[in-house]
Amino acid sequence: MQKTVEGFSKLSKQEKIHWIAHNCTSDPESTKKTLAHYCNENEALQKVHDEFIENTLTNYYLPFAVAPNFLINGTLYTIPMTIEESSVVAAASKAAKFWLTRSGFKTTVLGTEKVGQVHFMYYGNKQSIETLIKDILPTFYIATEAITRNMKKRGGGITNIALRDKTNVLEGYYQLHCTFETLDAMGANFINSCLEQFAKTLKEEASKKDIELEIIMSILSNYVPNCVVRAEVSCPISEDRSEETVSRNFAQRFVQAVSIAKSEPYRAVTHNKGIMNGIDAVVLATGNDFRAVEAGVHAYAAKDGSYSSLTHAEIKAGIFRFWMDVPLALGTVGGLTSLHPLVKLALEILQSPSAKDLMQIVAVAGLAQNFAALRSLVTTGIQKGHMKMHLLNMLNQMGASDEEKKQLVEYFKERTVSNASVKEHLERLRKL
Ligand code: MEV
Repeated sequence: MQKTVEGFSKLSKQEKIHWIAHNCTSDPESTKKTLAHYCNENEALQKVHDEFIENTLTNYYLPFAVAPNFLINGTLYTIPMTIEESSVVAAASKAAKFWLTRSGFKTTVLGTEKVGQVHFMYYGNKQSIETLIKDILPTFYIATEAITRNMKKRGGGITNIALRDKTNVLEGYYQLHCTFETLDAMGANFINSCLEQFAKTLKEEASKKDIELEIIMSILSNYVPNCVVRAEVSCPISEDRSEETVSRNFAQRFVQAVSIAKSEPYRAVTHNKGIMNGIDAVVLATGNDFRAVEAGVHAYAAKDGSYSSLTHAEIKAGIFRFWMDVPLALGTVGGLTSLHPLVKLALEILQSPSAKDLMQIVAVAGLAQNFAALRSLVTTGIQKGHMKMHLLNMLNQMGASDEEKKQLVEYFKERTVSNASVKEHLERLRKL
């Protein structure tokens, strides 16, 4: 039974570790060793990591990998990916190579608009609130000048402030629906600071006119349907049915698989999860907020009223085309970008992208991942490649030596991998 604790956040890091080790684990000395093992030797750097969040005990490791050979709008990229799932990087690399010889990926940023809202309740006459907002519109901009000055100098800032009457969905509910251009920053702090100032201004100006309203909250929206990038690939259909071509049969099965994901939410969720394998891995490697991206992407996938595939595919005039429009609010400055050494490295590997460049790269990683998954699903099935990649995890779990791993990877090259078969063959090998 664990104990409650008062003022945990005020304890020193060592005191916290001591408390956890002695109250939550069966072997306190081993816990302390594990936590110490994953701390960085560079104390100053570790302190920076400790201060990312509260109550940090150590660092949590995930693999940092790269998928090379991505040709995007004629430029070659090696894409950094942070993910624990064994087959994702291999699948991305395979898809990159496949499209490398077919003119690569094409991308276009369709919009970069970020959104934030001030939610408030007002039960008076609609005309009065409309007039108030119209009259005080310049005041919103003036009151936020200190916040927006730098962003404006670089070409960004507040792009619109509009009153929205939401009383049809909730009695008395209005909002200031605001849009922003935040350039290379993800912009969450900038947007939220502007919104909180708008709320303050609104309250002050309303009370000057004896208009009663109640501010409920001011917050950015992670739903960014106008901050969207398109990624696509296309190639002629080949009459050759070999594995290395896009044959008519393969293309037709592929288009059917996408159509199924478009019309069937159970399938769409898994289909889009595969896309997020690629998207999240790059979002995480580049220090962006993957929860924001996830929330926004899935809302976008349901924008037409039911949850559907993010990708589209067609065969027209002998050309196979596969594409995706996806909302991505990303940043390449601010946040962790200059603080986390691996984020800095990831951005350097990506040739110091702007936020727009990063949107395109991330979308490509998602499209590539979906291509790789569907390619397996409509041909060999997913388990062949998946279990091959998972084999090393299984062997590590079973405590296999390097030599045993080598022999069993060779043995399973042409055989079906399952937990039972791997166990059986490892035991057989050990008896030889
Ligand atoms: C597994 O992480 C992702 C897949 O399930 C995606 C899909 O089914 O399209 C393979």
